[in-house]
Formats: sequence, C-alpha cells, structure tokens
Amino acid sequence: MTESTPSYLAGHLAPVADEIEAVDLQVEGALPTELTGRYFRNGPNPVPGEDSGHWFTGHGMLHGVRLNQGRAEWYRNRWVRTKAMDGVPFHRPDGTVDLAAGAANTSVVKHGGKVFALMETSYPYEISRELDTLGPCDFNGRLTTGMTAHPKEDPETGELHLFDYGMRPPFLTYHRLSAAGELVASFPVQVAGPTMMHDFAITRNHVVWLDLPVVFDMELVGRGMPYQWSDKYTSRIGLMGKDDPTVRWFDVEPCYVFHVGNAREDEQGRVVLDAIRYSRDAWFQSWSRSGGAPRAEQAAALAVSKLHRWILDPATGKVTEQELDDGNAEFPTVDDRRVGLPNRYLYAVDSAAIIKYDTDRGQVARHELGENWHAGEAVFVPAADSSGEDEGWLLSIVTNSDPTVASQLLVHDATDLAAKPVASVLLPRRVPAGFHGSWIPDGELAR
Ligand SMILES: [Fe+2]
Repeated sequence: MTESTPSYLAGHLAPVADEIEAVDLQVEGALPTELTGRYFRNGPNPVPGEDSGHWFTGHGMLHGVRLNQGRAEWYRNRWVRTKAMDGVPFHRPDGTVDLAAGAANTSVVKHGGKVFALMETSYPYEISRELDTLGPCDFNGRLTTGMTAHPKEDPETGELHLFDYGMRPPFLTYHRLSAAGELVASFPVQVAGPTMMHDFAITRNHVVWLDLPVVFDMELVGRGMPYQWSDKYTSRIGLMGKDDPTVRWFDVEPCYVFHVGNAREDEQGRVVLDAIRYSRDAWFQSWSRSGGAPRAEQAAALAVSKLHRWILDPATGKVTEQELDDGNAEFPTVDDRRVGLPNRYLYAVDSAAIIKYDTDRGQVARHELGENWHAGEAVFVPAADSSGEDEGWLLSIVTNSDPTVASQLLVHDATDLAAKPVASVLLPRRVPAGFHGSWIPDGELAR
C-alpha cells in the first residue's frame, strides 16, 4: 500500500487476495434461532495486482454467512466467475457488448428459487447456495439486455420488476419476471437520453423511473465509468403503468439518485418516493471518491447525500419535494414485504453508523459503530411473529479501516437500534466494504 494506491483499493475498500472458508464461527451475544438461512453480500474485489480503474468496476466477490438455529455455521467468500474474470472485455471492438462479461459485483438477490449476482447493464449470474458460480442467465433466451442490480419484487404478486439502461436507443428497457422466474414482459421506454439509471421504484400501480442528469459520455470509454453530470439534461421522475410504456414525467430540482428507499401511493393516489438524493456538488464529490481521487482532494468540505421525499400527483401534474433529514446517508433499505406499499420505517447507513428513520414521526435513531468502523448496508429480516413493521433484525457486515482487523456480521434488534447488537458474528477475516446483500431464509432456494 503506497501513497499512490487509489482510494478504492485501500483502507476499508482494500480487496482480499483469496477465497477461504471457516466453520463454527465465534458469536458474541445470542443469535436469534429463527435466523436460519444465509446472508450473502456482494462487492467489488479486483484480483491481486489488478487496478480496475474505478470502485464500481472490480470483479464481484460474494461473502456468505450461514446461520442455523442460533449458530454461525460457516463463512465463505467466492469471486463471481464471470467471463470478465477470464479476461473477456465487456465492450467488443465492433461497438457491441458481451452481456456475460460484466463484473456481477453489485447485489445478490433471490427470485423464483434461484440466487443471482447482479451488475447493471449485464446478465445476471446464477449462484449456488454455497456461492459457486453456476453461469450467466438469460431466462431461456428471453432477456436480450442487461439487468439492473436493483430489481423490485412486488410483495403482493411475487413478480420481479426490472430494467436495463444503455448508451444507445432504446436507452431504457423494462422487463418483468413472473413469481416463478419466467420473463413475461419486455418493452422499451422513452427517456431523454443515455441516463445512468442505477435504481427505480414500484408502487401497486406504477413503475417509477429516474431520468436524471448523469449521462453516458463516449469520450470517457476505457477510463473507468464512462458517465458524467450534464447541466443540460433535465431531471425528471416518471410514472408508468406496468403494461403500458406511456410515461407521465415530472420535472424535479436537479439531482442524482443512486438508491431508492421505497415508493407508495397515498390515499389521494399520489406517489410518494423516498430516496437518497445527491445535489450536483454531492454527486461530484461522491463520484470522484469512487473513481479514486487522492485523499487530499477528499479532505475538502463534504456535500452529503440525504434522505429526500418527492410527492408526484398524477391528477394535477404537480410535484413537491422536501428533505426528510439533513444527515449523510446511503444504502437505504425497507422491509421487503413493504416494497411499493405504505411503510413507516426506512434504514440506511452513514460511514460509521446504522440509521433508522421513522418517516411518520420524522425521527431518526442511530447506532454509532465507533471510529474507523464502516457500516455495510443494513438488511431488514422480519421476526417470525412480527406484528409491528420494525419487529425484526438488521444484518450488517462492518469493516475496519485497518486491514488487519477482522470484520463482523452485526445483528441488531430493529426496534432498539441504539442498543448494542443482540449478536456479533466474528468473521475469520476482513470483508472489504462493498455494496448490497440479501437474507435468504431456508426453504426459499430450489437448490
Ligand atoms: Fe446499488
């Protein structure tokens, strides 16, 4: 590690060099016995000696922890063995792309009895319950585009809504999988240009699109992520029916959104979208950090990303927006059973804290991890007999800036986030801070 090491290869982001497994992990506190399943988390992890050029582009590595009846049975980490791992480039010389040569480094989701490692603009990779790579998936030839890393499963229908964006028309394509995992709908959607759409939202009746001013820039191809903020591109949020490509657009204040917390319809039929908003300044700072800006540049005053609400009224065409909290936040999560439906609570993380928002009361609870610790995305798992929305557990892998310190999987009682975790699973190694994970209960996997 030297002064010239890019920030995305150092400290809490420094990749690990190998794949290991360990059994019978030590646990401090008591793991709830009902937490029987697997916690999988994805993130970029370039192979030793490799500089991927941007935090977002390193090869995907999955970290998994198996919990069973109060015991932490195993930890395992595995690279996702995509074609990119074999050196196949995503961009072909003829200008086309190899959809199986993405890095599969962003998220891990379950649907239709299968588990997929995802990275936007490329094919999903199916993963075994032991984190082995089974191969790219095009849903029996029906998926002819990439797939977002943030699909949304409708808790009422079991369908999985997803999309792909790209640098050429059609810039946006919507897809939907049945509850059983068959691709049943695909159609192009009109947006103003090649916007970088990392996430979207659903409600009972709408798909919610984010047409925002971070756009593909041909000049940047081959230099990390080829996207740039454009002051000429209007920020819009759109509402679309689930079977009709017509979009109702609402102009909003210029911003960027990587991640949605949730969207829902209110009693008047308005759509309420809660997401983490970046101002222009906040976006530039975040983007330069992710691209490996030297530490000196990072020391400048931080513009932070914040929880924000947009209310879109299809009856009047009006949109109102407001900041819900002024603190830094990212990686918003919600109880999966409330995706697209009314919710009161959202969870998120700041660099050294796990956050719980009570959006009804405007209250914020935080669990501070302490200096040099970095909170990974907090995934909510409902308790077995939960009646209240926040009755359940928050799972988060935490990483220290010191590469010699091992990581932990923290299990918090979501009703009492400020308290110490009910259990900390001591992992056998440092897990680099990464992106998104999922809890996969036993019984939800076909194999
Ligand atoms: Fe993401």
